[in-house]
Amino acid sequence: MAAVPAGQHAHWSSRFAFILAAVGSAVGLGNLWRFPFQTGENGGSAFVLIYIGCVVLFALPVLIAEIAIGRHAQQSAISSTRKMAQEAGKSANWAIVGWVCTAGGFLVLTTYSVIAGQVMAYAASGFAGGFAQPDGANLFYQGEFIQLAWHAGFMLITILIVARGLKGGIEQVATFLMPLFFVMLIGLTIYSLISGAAGEAITYLFTPDFTAVTGNTFVAALGQAFFSVSVASAIMITYGSYLSKDTNIGSSSILIASADTAVALIAGLMIFPIVFMVGIDPGAGMGLIFTALPAVFADMPAGNIIGGAFFALAFIAAITSSISLLEGTVAFVEEHSDFSRPTAAWLLGFFAFMIGAGAVWSSEFGGVFVDWLSGSFLLPLGGLLVAVFTGWVIPKALMRDELSHASNGLFAFFHFSVKFIVPPAIGFILLLGLDAKFN
Ligand code: PHE
Repeated sequence: MAAVPAGQHAHWSSRFAFILAAVGSAVGLGNLWRFPFQTGENGGSAFVLIYIGCVVLFALPVLIAEIAIGRHAQQSAISSTRKMAQEAGKSANWAIVGWVCTAGGFLVLTTYSVIAGQVMAYAASGFAGGFAQPDGANLFYQGEFIQLAWHAGFMLITILIVARGLKGGIEQVATFLMPLFFVMLIGLTIYSLISGAAGEAITYLFTPDFTAVTGNTFVAALGQAFFSVSVASAIMITYGSYLSKDTNIGSSSILIASADTAVALIAGLMIFPIVFMVGIDPGAGMGLIFTALPAVFADMPAGNIIGGAFFALAFIAAITSSISLLEGTVAFVEEHSDFSRPTAAWLLGFFAFMIGAGAVWSSEFGGVFVDWLSGSFLLPLGGLLVAVFTGWVIPKALMRDELSHASNGLFAFFHFSVKFIVPPAIGFILLLGLDAKFN
């Protein structure tokens, strides 16, 4: 099969399908696993407020920029940035913007799948009644080969969906799973607020206490905002390339970022009442949902089923994100090689699986190297480059044209932000992160 020429790939069936797929990408383990433990580690309510500020000031403008780039050039992230730069009379080397984002998204996938595999295993343990036994959460997650098998299983599902293409795969899965996700999320949150320590959780999340704020709170909040909104990882450029010209990018982006933030806050309201009910330390770190929650579910009425449902919910969130992570690179390979979409999906999925496998064996490699390289370095760098690209390299008139539906106020905010706010802020945060890593 020949490479796919520019603009000749599939397009979303409707704006609604695009929104569901993009919200599906944004809402994921970032909301259900990463947001709660980041909030816990960084002191609760003040982190939540700073996080919301980062979404509005940094992630939203970068999201608008990415969807506009993709929609304008109608190609994968790398080709779109190259094409748009050339159109503006600038160097084709600006494709570096697409390269950094694509590499970041691909690396996120490698370890994302390992954690999602653990989520699947825990859902199985819950439904099998495991939470009631000591260390029962690990019922189906003991030993490296088993852990590898769950990682492989999750990657396999991701590959199979992406191989089916935009309409038959990604769109169908998102339109089926996202409504189910919201129903389950609301149901579980109501249950948790009724049976857990609701008052304490609400105070913890929403009564600002700035005593715990340090420079690191800002680094963590920005990293979390980028990760959660799925920016700087080639995904939103790629999803934007499947959009038609009549879609309002500004309002769609606001909707995507708001839905993602709402889910993070609701997830906080679902998880913290349970955490506080038995007095677990909210700063327990990465393992918060894996170690703390099963122990609590063990003592709750119908805890196994509720716990199983919680991890099933996290699985749904994860799969609609992982398909977007794989799609970013598959779209590029499909465009630039003779590989068909299924072959590209299998090859890249296998490659990502192998790198993730390294993380199963060595947490030093997975947690410290891959996670740092993607989360603390490539995503912020990608965001910085996207902002510089759309704020300084591409003429303002071209951006205005692509964002023709946006009000003057929204466009002015967007352009000011990508030009003057995002680059210095992220540059500073990147340096802080590098300094913390190497000093
Ligand atoms: N946004 C997704 C989540 O919250 C994961 C993701 C991260 C997707 C980075 C793309 C890029 O889980």
